[in-house]
Amino acid sequence: MAQNWNPSSWRQKPIQQVPDYPDLAALAATEAQLATYPPLVFAGEARRLKTALANVSEGRGFLLQGGDCAESFAEHGADNIRDFFRAFLQMAVALTFGAQQPVVKIGRIAGQFAKPRSSNVERQGEVELPSYRGDIINGIEFNEKARIPDPERQIMAYRQSAATLNLLRAFAQGGYANLDNVHQWMLGFVKDSPQAERYRKLADRISETMDFMKAIGITPESNPSLRETDFFTSHEALLLGYEQALTRVDSTSGDWYATSGHMIWIGDRTRQPDHAHVEYCRGIKNPIGLKCGPSMTADGLIELIDILNPANEAGRLTLICRFGHDKVAEHLPRLIRAVQKEGKKVVWSCDPMHGNTITLNSYKTRPFERILLEVESFFQIHRAEGTHPGGIHIEMTGNDVTECTGGARALSGADLADRYHTHCDPRLNADQALELAFLLAERMKGGRDEKRMVVNG
Ligand code: PEP
Ligand code: CO
Repeated sequence: MAQNWNPSSWRQKPIQQVPDYPDLAALAATEAQLATYPPLVFAGEARRLKTALANVSEGRGFLLQGGDCAESFAEHGADNIRDFFRAFLQMAVALTFGAQQPVVKIGRIAGQFAKPRSSNVERQGEVELPSYRGDIINGIEFNEKARIPDPERQIMAYRQSAATLNLLRAFAQGGYANLDNVHQWMLGFVKDSPQAERYRKLADRISETMDFMKAIGITPESNPSLRETDFFTSHEALLLGYEQALTRVDSTSGDWYATSGHMIWIGDRTRQPDHAHVEYCRGIKNPIGLKCGPSMTADGLIELIDILNPANEAGRLTLICRFGHDKVAEHLPRLIRAVQKEGKKVVWSCDPMHGNTITLNSYKTRPFERILLEVESFFQIHRAEGTHPGGIHIEMTGNDVTECTGGARALSGADLADRYHTHCDPRLNADQALELAFLLAERMKGGRDEKRMVVNG
């Protein structure tokens, strides 16, 4: 077990991004209540995810992580969860085919409620109020009452997470994730896309492969792995009182686990090595993520890796890089080299969202082209350094929102007002998310064909 650590040792450390609860007794009572509730996930599941991520870190798999920037109470419903899961599975199938490797599927879901903010206050005209910090803390409505942090919201977030997870488990195991279904949905997307011609080639090759599998007797009926899928949950471990309340000892190993989600990550604003968020995460055994933005130095990264993964265990740590399309070439190579030099085992993942946010017609948005550019640079840089571009981390929804510009339907700045629903950052809509997966799959496939030609030629 980590030395001098316990689930509350973070309380002795400096902390960033902490909400100002007016009633600390009520907060403590809520946390005590949460501590009696059942865990949302189990240690054995987190260990299974760690094993899958260990394979990714060793070059034998690809990580797809995605979902809402911030889940909301208002948008909690079966249709939203189903539509997200559907789009996410379609992406996973395209990427599995492109990478010719297993895709590890992790949602930003069933717990992704707390948001770090760049300012403590939000101003509208002459009025200044505390910033919205996610539905688990306060309300998004711009009035004084809504913005007061309310501990009861933690109970609501817990219950929503439990209900979401329940449905996701049913979808993942109960036949909805059947590969035949997913492929049929994907053909629907391809047919309706303005880029249909371009995507058809990849879709046809997947169809051919599936027909071949059927011909030799590998069908969803005969093979459970084609009917079911492993799907994991994740969120930023920002609200540490909530996390602590759901931190439990695993009876088989005697280790501490965060049971609020399978994987949790540390945000770019709360990764100070001697502060509370790093302290909390170092002691739990789940796989964890660490956001790496432009201010991450090579020495700082190695220091954090030593704290968070002292045994250098493969699958424990995923570095989620979020530099921006125009900065990735400046920052990623130096971090890769430092990690390689020290022999650290990590999964390299690319978050092409958080470094590419701009304001257009007073909306926060992200141009699809920049998102794609950052992922492409990420792949190229890893190829050049001889390391494995292990995954992507995106903000997306299964709905037809208008939050990011561009993509095959060429969403413009003027379209943003139509269906801009996000509670925080702009997300890729279902079409844009799938398009990103298709473009990456195409390139991964192309890259491999090229390599094969070089080897054979
Ligand atoms: C996020 O993932 O929503 C987020 C706030 O990211 P970052 O910590 O990288 O800014
Ligand atoms: Co975000």
